[in-house]
Amino acid sequence: MTRIIAVCNQKGGVGKTTTAVNLSAALSMAEKRTLLVDADPQANATQGVGVSIGEDDPTLYDVLCSDEEWTPDSASSYLHKTALPFLDLVPATHHLAGAEIELVSAIAREMRLRSFLKQIGQRYDYILIDTPPSLGLLTLNVLVAATSVMIPIQCEYYALQGLAELLNTIRLTQRSLNPDLTIEGALLTMFQSSTLLSKQVVDEVRTSFNEKVFQTVIPRSIKLAEAPSFGKPILLYDIATPGASAYMKLAQEVMGGDAA
Ligand SMILES: Nc1ncnc2c1ncn2[C@@H]1O[C@H](COP(=O)(O)OP(=O)(O)OP(=O)(O)O)[C@@H](O)[C@H]1O
Ligand SMILES: [Mg+2]
Repeated sequence: MTRIIAVCNQKGGVGKTTTAVNLSAALSMAEKRTLLVDADPQANATQGVGVSIGEDDPTLYDVLCSDEEWTPDSASSYLHKTALPFLDLVPATHHLAGAEIELVSAIAREMRLRSFLKQIGQRYDYILIDTPPSLGLLTLNVLVAATSVMIPIQCEYYALQGLAELLNTIRLTQRSLNPDLTIEGALLTMFQSSTLLSKQVVDEVRTSFNEKVFQTVIPRSIKLAEAPSFGKPILLYDIATPGASAYMKLAQEVMGGDAA
């Protein structure tokens, strides 16, 4: 069964996009058929895999704001190829910000992404969805469409702030709109082995977070921060770095959780 993983935390700059881009690249390098969906109007994931979008190209905005009854054929026209053979993209542009407003008055406004992914889901082993730093209708569409949520947590002071609100939103979504949604786990990001603070945050998250915390910890690495400016996932930019190894290890851990 296709696993649809929402990479979600309404706190900004915690490593959501870096994780969505590099984990999807790592899964695709393991020859898993993978789709990356960019659900953030900042369009960082689209840029991160080096896809440039023309004015007339179909994007996630069109997916969410169209009244179309999807068929597998019509839905597949929204899929873009990337430099990696097993990785496709549903891109975003800044126009996606308008969807948040247009959806307010739309019918079945929380179900739009879910209906779309239903038509193309069976083509993929994994679908990863990058979300914006907010808990609005875009994120709600993602939580309704997903099978699980991965929560990146930055190894910094205030790391756990806002987590209760996110967990509450997940719970409400489970209760009313998507009972099958599970929590994939928390992912510690931007870890600096040289600082006591990083270690304290890791300890705190491992002891106080009641859900799974991934064994893999993503180190702070300048190469991970540089790679997007070249439009490349870390595995294509510099595979021989700790950041690349960490995302490959995370992919192994995610795949290890597969029943199939
Ligand atoms: N492990 C890392 N090491 C060094 N820099 C990192 C790492 N992970 C992310 N960054 C950098 O930190 C910044 C924030 O990361 P990212 O864009 O992935 O966060 P985000 O949660 O998607 O942010 P937003 O909430 O704005 O969407 C970016 O400049 C990114 O390149
Ligand atoms: Mg982001």
